[in-house]
Amino acid sequence: MIATPTPVQPSYDRAAWAKGYRTLSQERSYWIDEVEGEIPAGLTGTLFRNGPGKLEAGNEPVQHPFDGDGMICAITFKDGRAHFKNRYVETEGYVAEKKAEKILYRGVFGTARSGGWLKNAFDTKLKNIANTQVIYWGGKLMALWEAAEPHRLDPATLETLGLENFDGKLKKGGAFAAHPWIDPKGPDGEPCLVNFSIEAGLSFTLNLYELNLKGEIVRQQDHVLPGFAFIHDFAITPNYYIFFQNPVKFNPLPFVLGAKGAGECIDFEPEKSTRMLVIARSGQSKPQVLEAKAGFVFHHANAFERDGKIVVDSICYGKLPTVEPGSDFRSTDFATLMPGQLWRFELDLNTNQVDRKMLVSRCCEFPVVHPDYVGQEYQYAYMGAGLATEGNVPLQAIAKIDVTTGTEVLHSCGPDGFINEPIFVPSGVGDREDAGWLLTMVYDGVRDRSSIVILDAQTMTQVSRLWLTHHVPYGLHGTFTPEVFI
Ligand SMILES: [Fe+2]
Repeated sequence: MIATPTPVQPSYDRAAWAKGYRTLSQERSYWIDEVEGEIPAGLTGTLFRNGPGKLEAGNEPVQHPFDGDGMICAITFKDGRAHFKNRYVETEGYVAEKKAEKILYRGVFGTARSGGWLKNAFDTKLKNIANTQVIYWGGKLMALWEAAEPHRLDPATLETLGLENFDGKLKKGGAFAAHPWIDPKGPDGEPCLVNFSIEAGLSFTLNLYELNLKGEIVRQQDHVLPGFAFIHDFAITPNYYIFFQNPVKFNPLPFVLGAKGAGECIDFEPEKSTRMLVIARSGQSKPQVLEAKAGFVFHHANAFERDGKIVVDSICYGKLPTVEPGSDFRSTDFATLMPGQLWRFELDLNTNQVDRKMLVSRCCEFPVVHPDYVGQEYQYAYMGAGLATEGNVPLQAIAKIDVTTGTEVLHSCGPDGFINEPIFVPSGVGDREDAGWLLTMVYDGVRDRSSIVILDAQTMTQVSRLWLTHHVPYGLHGTFTPEVFI
């Protein structure tokens, strides 16, 4: 067991936090006028973010925010100014439910058509909600959701252009996970995008993809592996892909019979170890499997190779965080949940042994690193963090962790601010690993508005805060590109 839930004195107003989970119906486009401080002159490019923006159909709410429809925000920085734009990904399901004003599709995390299980039984069709990540690569802007094809978008207007299948290399209905990594120096010496997909079943198939700078799939391999896989993210090094196969079991019966969403039929097995799959990026050799207790992992911060070992830094939970069927996620009692904590795993490929140690016990999530250090030995990870030193609480701070020592520097946005994933943007000035800015969308529960906070990553002090005229619902992931599309 990684950690136990520890009751902590709330440092936040839960009602204020919950207001951040409200649909943003309007699609807007405007220059941001209310700016604290100055936007750095050297900050040029576009921050794309994705997340569930619509949390009901008509008057019927989704059961879990992960079932909400994907909405893209684009914040463009140019000449010391910033422009905001948001637009929904017009997926087949989004368009149909908006027209019908009711839920037509079952969601992975328990959203169901009204009428009870009889109205949902034997319908296992998934709605591609395109709500998890958005990335600009190879001249294409793509909204990602891990169980289906990407949706391609116009980067200037955010208009939905259709499904992307990479010249037919992604088969119809095939998935493309929401956690691509950009390897700064791929096998050809040029950056490449690395991603995976999972085809679930009694065993599962793991597909691996590497895309060149033109956005073409140039390397591909697949492996059929035993067991059920609930794998959301992975890690890369120059020579390996690393997957943590969480210790879970899946009972599909309540899903098939319409009583539960597929995601609600997954049970965490705390007594079991995590299977750590190490796959060589070259060739098609069989994965090396190591085992260790790791709890439940959604996200990895980074990985690198050192002295015949692979070091992996990951956010681990004592068990799979879940929303009880029929409950309201806005009423989440944080004290009953286990915190995500940053752990370091050292996988010895010669002995098959795994050493592990906790780096950060404070509740944390959404880790990122300097893009040039992906897969490389590194010093700093940045992530959302709680203000309490222990227990599960909302993310209200941005943490800079020195992973070589475990020391942490926090920038608090509390007590009113609730943060999303930070994104590191290199300033290009000097060669320090922390020379850059952290861009984070923050929801203020008192002002009921969101802002983009820009921190100096070296000092963790605020450089600028850009107030939007409205709120943006809590999002999931985003990426930055130096490209400007205005
Ligand atoms: Fe994620």
